[in-house]
Formats: sequence, structure tokens, C-alpha cells
Amino acid sequence: MFPRVIMFNTISVDGSIKDFELDLGLHYEVAGKIRADAHLIGSDTARTGVSLFTENVPAEGPADFVKPIIKADERRPFWVLSDSKGKLKGLLHVFRKSCYCKDVIVIVTNKTPEDYINYLKERNYNVIVAGDEYVDFRVALERLGMYYNVKTVMTDSGGGLTSTLIKEGLVDELTLLISPVIVGKNSTNLFRYLETKVNLELIRTERIKANHTLAVYRVLANINVLTPPHVDNESQHV
Ligand SMILES: NC(=O)c1ccc[n+]([C@@H]2O[C@H](COP(=O)([O-])OP(=O)(O)OC[C@H]3O[C@@H](n4cnc5c(N)ncnc54)[C@H](OP(=O)(O)O)[C@@H]3O)[C@@H](O)[C@H]2O)c1
Repeated sequence: MFPRVIMFNTISVDGSIKDFELDLGLHYEVAGKIRADAHLIGSDTARTGVSLFTENVPAEGPADFVKPIIKADERRPFWVLSDSKGKLKGLLHVFRKSCYCKDVIVIVTNKTPEDYINYLKERNYNVIVAGDEYVDFRVALERLGMYYNVKTVMTDSGGGLTSTLIKEGLVDELTLLISPVIVGKNSTNLFRYLETKVNLELIRTERIKANHTLAVYRVLANINVLTPPHVDNESQHV
């Protein structure tokens, strides 16, 4: 089954992703309620996360080379990192160690540097190969559904990754947590990479923690709604 994709972001009233005080606790509380089977994270957001939340990257130990055992009643999501250029080499154990994910899946392409592929193999990471120059997310999502039983994907990016997904017609729903602030002329708009409008249908709104608004939209018309996801017989797992 092709997974349902929910884009989740905390933004200012004027759509900025930064330059305001983001309530991280509330952001993760709302994200957790989406109960996605997988969180899809772009390589740049992942790198920023490491520098924000990890003072010093810990040295790798023997346990970092072993794939975790996933219990039948496991409820935590997979963290799926899109990283065709190998920007997360030397950092992936930080994600795998997190108590918020059950394991890491890395999406690469046929042109990903070989030393990064070897790094992933040596550490027994789950890998999906999709695309050549750039990740082909239609193929990657299809494989997440097929091989990892992922039914719902939540994605949270600074705009680069989610715009790519919207352009490809792969996003079903937007959940926006709107902070009570206007950033003004220095704002960095979440949708700055989109060139054409995207029509939405409002599903619901909710006032959260006195001063925030949660707005949930269904994506009605995507820019490049392509053919339905194709299914091939050949697994491209590394
Ligand atoms: N306010 C918020 O809610 C929020 C949330 C998340 C992040 N942020 C902030 O946003 C910033 C980073 O945001 P970002 O959007 O630049 O980075 P990002 O979320 O990491 O998005 C970049 C990802 O998109 C992929 N990508 C880009 N163009 C593509 C294309 N044409 N085809 C296929 N894949 C493509 C890249 O792939 P490759 O890896 O293959 O290059 C990379 O994985 C950070 O400062 C972060 O802190 C804010």
C-alpha cells in the first residue's frame, strides 16, 4: 500500500520557519499525536538537529554496528533519512541511538558515493535506493510501504524536502502549528520553493495551548499529479 504523507510544520503567522521562538515541546507533542509509522527527514534538517541537540557527537561503539531488534508491540516510528550525497556520514548512530525511533532507514540513489554506501552496509542500516541524481520519492515511499509496512509518513522540513514532495503530488495532508508571531520582512517562507499554487481543503482547526492554532488541510490539487505509483518486481535494497 502506498503510504499517506502528512507534512507537519511549526510556522509563524506569516509562514516563516525560523527567526521566532518555536515551542519545541509543543511541536513534538503535536507531531507525536499524528502517530505516523515513519518520520521522513531531509539531510539538512537532520544535520541541523544534530548540531542543535548534541553538544559532542559520541564515538561509535560496537552496538552502533548492529541493527536493533524490533519487538512485535513496538509503537515508535522509523526515522527515514533522505541522504543521496552522504551528508550524514559519521552521524547516523546519533539517530539510531535515539529513544524516539525504532530504527533508521536511509534513502540513497544510484549515484550516492560508494564510501557512504559501504559505511551504511558495515553498520547494517536499512537502505532504500531510489532515483539517480536526486531521490525519487514516489519509488522510495512505495518501498517504505512494501518492505517496511509503513502506512503513514510524517515529514517535517525547512521547505526543501516538503516542496519536492508537494511538487511530485505525494503529500496528502498539511498540519500547520501556527505560532502567535509575525516575523515580518526577514521571514523564511516554508513554501518558498513552490512555483505554482496548491489548492487545499480545510479539515479542521483547533486552538492549542491558549495561543497557538493547529490547522489541518487536505491537499486537493498538486502541481504535477503523475501516474499512480508503479510497482516493479525487482527489489533495489542495497
Ligand atoms: N520550523 C520548522 O518546522 C522546521 C522544520 C524542519 C527544519 N527546519 C529548519 O529548516 C532548515 C533545513 O531545511 P531544508 O528544507 O533546507 O532542508 P531539508 O528539510 O533537509 O530538505 C532537504 C532535503 O530534500 C532533498 N531534496 C532537495 N531537493 C530535492 C530534489 N529536487 N529532489 C529530491 N530531493 C531533494 C535533499 O536530498 P539530498 O539529501 O539527497 O540532498 C534533502 O534530503 C534547517 O535550518 C532546519 O532547522 C524548520
